[in-house]
Amino acid sequence: MLEKILGKMETSKGFIHIPVRERKDLIGDISVPCKTLLNTEIARIDSYGRLWSSFLKGKFSAGSKVRLTRKEDGFQVELIGNGYENYEKIKKKDAAFINSWDSSKQRTQIRKKGTCTSSFGSPGRFGHDSSKFYKSRLYEGIPSEIKETVYVENEIPQDYLNRIFCKSSERMDELPENSIHLMVTSPPYNVGKDYDKNFSLEEYRNLLRQVFKEVYRVLVTGGRACVNIANLGRKPYIPLHTWIIQDMLDIGFLMRGEIIWDKGSSAAASTAWGSWCSATNPTLRDVHEYILVFSKDTFSRPNLKDKKNTITREEFLEWSKSVWSFPAESASKIGHPAPFPIELPLRLIKLYTFEKDVVLDPFMGSGTTAIAALQTNRHYIGYEIIKEYVGIAEKRIKEFQSAQSQMKLSNFSV
Ligand SMILES: C[S@@+](CC[C@H](N)C(=O)[O-])C[C@H]1O[C@@H](n2cnc3c(N)ncnc32)[C@H](O)[C@@H]1O
Repeated sequence: MLEKILGKMETSKGFIHIPVRERKDLIGDISVPCKTLLNTEIARIDSYGRLWSSFLKGKFSAGSKVRLTRKEDGFQVELIGNGYENYEKIKKKDAAFINSWDSSKQRTQIRKKGTCTSSFGSPGRFGHDSSKFYKSRLYEGIPSEIKETVYVENEIPQDYLNRIFCKSSERMDELPENSIHLMVTSPPYNVGKDYDKNFSLEEYRNLLRQVFKEVYRVLVTGGRACVNIANLGRKPYIPLHTWIIQDMLDIGFLMRGEIIWDKGSSAAASTAWGSWCSATNPTLRDVHEYILVFSKDTFSRPNLKDKKNTITREEFLEWSKSVWSFPAESASKIGHPAPFPIELPLRLIKLYTFEKDVVLDPFMGSGTTAIAALQTNRHYIGYEIIKEYVGIAEKRIKEFQSAQSQMKLSNFSV
């Protein structure tokens, strides 16, 4: 028997988030989602431990205290009073359960008979138990997932959604903490482009560290941060991506992986061979860039509002691979010295966010991330210090929106 105070969303949408530490406390080892009964009406338990039933819809007001009892054929819920004063406290506690529920789901999956880490690798890795590997000393000192986090999502003022702020993203005071679902960006490279400031490496790293600390603050738990970066120079080569990884880990991000973006023949056709067909000093000509992918505090992110995934099966199969191939964007066509192609933010947005999520680009440039967000029915927020680029971005966004509404009109009239 359990008691809980219902949240606003629970009462309006018709569910109860089952307040237990471990799923087995209430439903044992059965797999979710599963069907059950609530006060003899048909109900469903989803994978976040929420008990849904149309019986509940509009039945209680937010702040109502209910008692939930496990019966042989399902559950029984009854109102036992109002407890609004406890509401904020309970809301936070409940959010923590979402994550513990999620990790207990993962633990159950691992416990099922499957492969495990072995000296010769494991074929197939189905239901793979990798706990031995993750407990190994290799992981000592590497930030690990925070198990008992509280998932809080703060609302961004409506006025700030779909907007580019013409200011430095070192401070994003407009954004509340825990409000952004994904950051996608390509930072300035400090290589003498119009907007570059000829920083020393340390000054450059300080700028990025400050911006990414702000990004960490504004991301929701489990929110993702994707940084597109290329390495520089040859004599010697400057591996910017390794320093960015180090700085992101120092800030507290968890690293999820890195994508090699193969620009193929669209990469600037460098003829800096070093020594032609001779081992004296041949140099590598980069035709790739990196997309470094991080998470805040946890790897998974609950979908509490049942938002829609928009990635197709084919896209998921292809884009979850760590090498992506598509051409670079033409700077002269866009009017910005270093735009990335729309394909880059588009894939990340579809892979890492749900519809109506909020995507931040703290170095917005010509607005490519904003267009990708609109195209996928997400919101954007951007920061850009150069007014002229904000103008270019806003023009591109307007053109995209009018092309989109033209298309809708012509579909409608067919
Ligand atoms: C590599 S470009 C981004 C290009 C962008 N992805 C696009 O597709 O157009 C980096 C941008 O960051 C801007 N920038 C540099 N420092 C900044 C800062 N402190 N805050 C906000 N924007 C900044 C530059 O003006 C430049 O437009």
